[in-house]
Amino acid sequence: MKGKFITVEGIEGVGKTTNMEYLRQLITAAGQELVVTREPGGTPLGEAIRGLLLDPQYTGMDADCELQLMFAARAEHLDKVIKPAITAGRWVLCDRFTDATYAYQGGGRGLDTEHIAALEQLVQGGFRPDLTLLLDVPVEIGLARAGNRSAPDRFEQEKVEFFERVRQAYLEMARTHDGRYRVIDASQPLEAVQQQLATVLRALLTA
Ligand code: TMP
Repeated sequence: MKGKFITVEGIEGVGKTTNMEYLRQLITAAGQELVVTREPGGTPLGEAIRGLLLDPQYTGMDADCELQLMFAARAEHLDKVIKPAITAGRWVLCDRFTDATYAYQGGGRGLDTEHIAALEQLVQGGFRPDLTLLLDVPVEIGLARAGNRSAPDRFEQEKVEFFERVRQAYLEMARTHDGRYRVIDASQPLEAVQQQLATVLRALLTA
């Protein structure tokens, strides 16, 4: 039987790292073999592309260049990690995927959604996540949390309005793809967030 592909999305500072670890524990405790990975990245080549994408040295990178680097890393990731795992019956938990491209390059940078969809078709065909968990917090809360960390990368240097557009693009996708999306209110205390995640995961584990 094929494994499930779960993606976790949200703006900076929503608590992805902590909650990914919680999800990892839930899934492995249920006896599923699991691969935990991230985008951009997840392979040696993908991580090298991630280095280029996040490096503040390339502030002002052309948005089409950025878009294509995201999909270049994704093609390698799908080929080397995600698809082989799913085919072998393992589950894959991925920190961001193509919805991040629609949110950041589409919403944030203002690129044409049809161009993103064309690249999605080229790289993925009909391949989509089984479940996308959108950790949602108001932008000011997310940025305040993220701001306490180390030196900002190329995306973290963006202004509040950029992240507002990213957040709205995510929420809009959640409305239009409500079949695979679950919006988690991540502004609540951690215990309440994890309760929401456990409820959603239980449904998938018993499906
Ligand atoms: P992370 O640090 O949360 O793992 O993500 C790295 C950054 O890359 C984050 O600011 C969002 C951005 N990103 C995009 O702009 N488009 C994408 O398709 C992906 C996967 C990430």
